[in-house]
Amino acid sequence: MERHMIDSQPRVRVASCDDISALQELISQSYRVLCRRYYTPKQIECALAHHVGIDKQMIDDGTYYVSEIDGEIVGGGGWSKRKKLFGGDTVKSPGAHDPAPIRGVFVHPSWARRGIERRIVKCCERAARQANFRNLELIATSVGEPLYTACGFETVEPIEHSFPYGLLAPAVRIFKSLDTKPYRWVVRVRSENRNGSVAQSDAFSPARIAN
Ligand SMILES: CC(C)(COP(=O)(O)OP(=O)(O)OC[C@H]1O[C@@H](n2cnc3c(N)ncnc32)[C@H](O)[C@@H]1OP(=O)(O)O)[C@@H](O)C(=O)NCCC(=O)NCCS
Repeated sequence: MERHMIDSQPRVRVASCDDISALQELISQSYRVLCRRYYTPKQIECALAHHVGIDKQMIDDGTYYVSEIDGEIVGGGGWSKRKKLFGGDTVKSPGAHDPAPIRGVFVHPSWARRGIERRIVKCCERAARQANFRNLELIATSVGEPLYTACGFETVEPIEHSFPYGLLAPAVRIFKSLDTKPYRWVVRVRSENRNGSVAQSDAFSPARIAN
């Protein structure tokens, strides 16, 4: 897939089972190219074999999204409401103590740094909030960490992800609270000049603390 100059906007839609084979091919390409600055080929192949993949349960739940440009899938990502990773069918109870994980986030290498995954993460965030989850969490690759930072997530701690045969890979635990931020009250005082003219309007309004 060539990176071409296009005017079309990426379109995010809910993934369907028909997308699975394209997604599996894309996720492998994405990790093999975009992770190679941070991980060895062995770590990448091990991750693809044992950890990274498309979770059909998320597709069935309607919580996995794809980004398309001109009808071609260029990225994917989603969130899970299930207790178990990969195929578990017990639903988490939304709330402060049960964060929803974000998973399966990747972009085709030709479309990296074009805002594709930022849109998908925002989409996950909106949907998880609507489903009454109050927190999001994930274990991110070193490549993924700046994306989540840019989306307002916090890095909790660096970890070593362990794969079979004792292989380790650095990763980071990431978290975001979906609780709405408190209001800061902005008070503008109405003051009168000596000549009687009003110098400042009498606005008294709540303003959200800027991100
Ligand atoms: C991580 C990944 C999903 C980012 O996807 P993307 O579509 O390129 O990300 P976006 O273009 O939406 O980036 C949004 C912001 O995140 C930050 N960011 C994303 N990738 C970055 C990188 N490689 N280096 C530095 N900052 C980065 C930037 O702030 C960026 O905004 P900017 O381009 O305006 O500066 C992509 O690199 C990828 O697929 N990597 C391989 C698979 C992987 O590691 N997935 C993450 C699993 S947790």
